Order: sequence, then C-alpha cells, then structure tokens
Amino acid sequence: METKIIDGKQIAKEIRIELKHKVKELMAQGYPQPKLSVILVGNDPASETYVRNKIKACEKVGIESEQILMDASVSQETLLAEIRRLNEDPSVNGILVQLPLPKQIDVDAVIQTIDPAKDVDGFHIENVGSMTVGDGRGYIPCTPGGVIELLKRSGITIDGKQCVVVGRSNLVGKPAAILLLQENGTVTICHSHTKNLTEICQGADILVVAIGRAHFINGSQIKEGAAVIDVGINRTDAGLVGDVDTASCMGIAGAITPVPGGVGPMTIAMLMKNTMEAYQVQNHIA
Ligand code: GUN
Repeated sequence: METKIIDGKQIAKEIRIELKHKVKELMAQGYPQPKLSVILVGNDPASETYVRNKIKACEKVGIESEQILMDASVSQETLLAEIRRLNEDPSVNGILVQLPLPKQIDVDAVIQTIDPAKDVDGFHIENVGSMTVGDGRGYIPCTPGGVIELLKRSGITIDGKQCVVVGRSNLVGKPAAILLLQENGTVTICHSHTKNLTEICQGADILVVAIGRAHFINGSQIKEGAAVIDVGINRTDAGLVGDVDTASCMGIAGAITPVPGGVGPMTIAMLMKNTMEAYQVQNHIA
C-alpha cells in the first residue's frame, strides 16, 4: 500500500492564507488590527523557538503580536498581575502564557487567571468545559484542534471509525479523544497502565500518538491502511523525532504525518484561528 504523507506545513499555510484574507477584509471595514500577547518566562531554548514561531505566524497573518519576557525568577504575583493587566486591555484579543513555567509558579493559577474570552490556548476550565459538552462556545486547544483539522482537510472521515489515542495528557490526549468522539469516532484512550497496547493500536483506523516518547509506536503495531497522526516532538541525538517510527510504517499506513512538518505547524495555525475567533467575538463580528 502506498502511504500518503500528510503535509501539515502546507495545510497550515492554507489556513494562514484564509485568515490573512479575513484580517485584511475586516481591517478594510474599519475594525482594529487583531492582537495576540505572548508571555515567555525564563529562557528555555525550546520555548523560545516555539514563541518565535508563533510571533512569525502572527506577522504572516497580519495579527499584531507582543512578546512579554519575564525573568525565570519572577514571582507568581507579578505574573498574575501582568495577566490581569492584559485581561483589562481592550486592544489585546488573545493571551498565551508559554508552558512549561518555573517551579515557583502554580500553572493552574496562571491558566485560570486568563480571561476565558482571551484564552486562545483553550486551557481555561471554562473552555475545557465548553469543549467537553460541545456547546460550540470557547476555544479548542490548538494541538488537538490541529489534529482534527489535519484529518478533515486530508479527506479522512472520522465518523464511525475506530480511533485510538495513545496518551492522556490534559494538553493533547484527553482533548483529542473528546474531539474525535464529537466527530462520531469510536474512541479508545491508551496510557502507561494499558495492558494490551499493541492489540488496541492494531485495531485503529485512526491512531493519534501523543505519549512524548521517541519512536514509541512502530509499523508492526498499526493496521493496514490506518491514518497515523504523530503528535510527538522529541529531541534526540538523531535530531527531532516523533512518537512514531515513521519509516517502519511506510507501506502499511494509509496516511501518516511527518515530524517535523506534520502536527507542529498546525498547532500554530490553530492558535492564529483561535486568536481571530477571539477578535471577532470581542468586536461583535458575526
Ligand atoms: N508549550 C508546549 N505546547 C504549548 C501550547 O500549546 N501552549 C502553551 N501555552 N505552551 C505550550
């Protein structure tokens, strides 16, 4: 079987172009420029790269961005005060605090301080609640949202399919499972305590792997023709690799996302989409 490589980079570009047209059209009607504020605490190189890519994407779409850099030793109160200031600033449509945060900071307090209407990461409990009940309000977290968008734009039907998610994190695994369920997939979640992982994965029409371990899944564990979505980004001596051993899946999978160039660019494209949604809601644009 020929395995189709799902080009996340290209699909993300298409989304950015759609959003760019939207920004242009709305600004021509007299609306202000959309704006995303990104808070980066400390100088973790991976986080710096992610934030740089988010700022670059804003430039491409025509969204104004600001980077707020804070020292790794910043106090929780100073960070929360900055978030509250951004909550109150009407020129700011979206707020993102890059994770992970230093040990002295309570991540949950940070996330819950962000105004849910500006929480473009979709991490606030109110947005998680909206996503879980499927009320169509709030923001879908960017990485799992990107997984669904990749499948849809690649012409892969979720409805009625056996979907297996490997990983149960609050950032990716759990929301990915909820979103697949909302698309009428039959969903199984596997995690570190799962006994018959290979057998379950072999039953998957759609396999989403977000476990954070390099080459955790290989070709012998997947079903012929399966769509394999690799969410992992692992830094190894051999460079960036996914949670899936892509090479061993070639000729077995029906479609697969590469790492890099699969889910990664989609996460940022979905952040742009959420920021535009926030902007439209805040400006009462239908
Ligand atoms: N760190 C890794 N992924 C993410 C993400 O999606 N959002 C934020 N804020 N931090 C992250």
